[in-house]
Amino acid sequence: METASSTDAVSAEALWRLGTAYFGRKVVITAAELGVFTVLADSPADEESIRKALGLHGRGLRDFLDALVSLGMLDRDGTLYRNTAVSDHYLNQSRSSYAGAFLASADKRWDQLAEALRTGEPQNRWGSGPKMFTEQYRTTDAWRNFNAGMDYLNGMIGPRLAEAYDWSSTVSVADVGGGRGNLVVPILRRNPALRAVVFDLPAVRPVFEEHAGMLGLADRMTFVGGDFFNDRLPAADVLVFSHVLHDWGQEERRTLLRNAFESLPPGGRVLICDPMIDDDRSGTPNALLTSLNMLMVTPHGSEYTRSECRSLLKEAGFDGLRQVPLGSNNTLVIGLKPR
Ligand SMILES: C[S@@+](CC[C@H](N)C(=O)[O-])C[C@H]1O[C@@H](n2cnc3c(N)ncnc32)[C@H](O)[C@@H]1O
Repeated sequence: METASSTDAVSAEALWRLGTAYFGRKVVITAAELGVFTVLADSPADEESIRKALGLHGRGLRDFLDALVSLGMLDRDGTLYRNTAVSDHYLNQSRSSYAGAFLASADKRWDQLAEALRTGEPQNRWGSGPKMFTEQYRTTDAWRNFNAGMDYLNGMIGPRLAEAYDWSSTVSVADVGGGRGNLVVPILRRNPALRAVVFDLPAVRPVFEEHAGMLGLADRMTFVGGDFFNDRLPAADVLVFSHVLHDWGQEERRTLLRNAFESLPPGGRVLICDPMIDDDRSGTPNALLTSLNMLMVTPHGSEYTRSECRSLLKEAGFDGLRQVPLGSNNTLVIGLKPR
């Protein structure tokens, strides 16, 4: 039977923080969907102007706006609210970097976690197997939204990858499954002699071209369209797979690394970036939670441990393995094709 002392000894605070973490997430995603950051893109505004511009009732609005201030997504100066640098870049619908649609679709999908655990099935309408991307993204607009979400994630990796690996003797890098090429941008900017090839499905070419053109790097980045399971990968000294292996099951990862080994020259390197679970499956929950996200969005994908990554690389023939943390959310594992 439950006793008074058993509840006295248990603090509800940790559970309260976890159980209500979605309050903050909902406030941010709802603000993006309503267009708060879009209305504030050009100039700061007070509560009443925001209310009118968005056609809101008014009840709760002050708390909503001040909650956004305390969550770091708005600044307030007297009665005027303005976007922060982050919300202006990622949550303002008029920018090509808008990630609100991507965050909102992930948010809705996660309501289906129990169903995914019961059935083992992803909770979106992607096809299965190698066609899952082409079946989900059929229009350039759909690719644009998806890539904006990817860039929001790889924007946290690219600058770190530029520092964590010594690019000084690399002539060419190919970013395999590189979307619209955003990951290699900080690497190219820090290494003016380096050239990049971005390899992705042919349908991604239009969003690559508009992005590379906008960044002014079109002369140093080339797009090659193809299927990384069946086509030869581009010739380059370094091949990067960022947030690619975790989309697929073990056999598909083996194929990708075999293809990488075949196309690299002797002395070439493969760079794998993924969240990667700690070998003893402890540590921060990030990689485990993103692994569950892969359950929700792919038929066979998951995160994997660093030692599983090293084993896959060894099996494919790579040598000289090294691993480096890329911030707190990702790991880089490097493999060398022996001479
Ligand atoms: C999860 S995204 C990662 C994008 C990017 N590397 C990053 O770090 O943000 C996976 C990428 O793999 C690409 N992709 C999926 N299947 C592919 C295939 N069969 N051949 C080439 N690229 C593919 C997708 O179009 C997408 O750009």
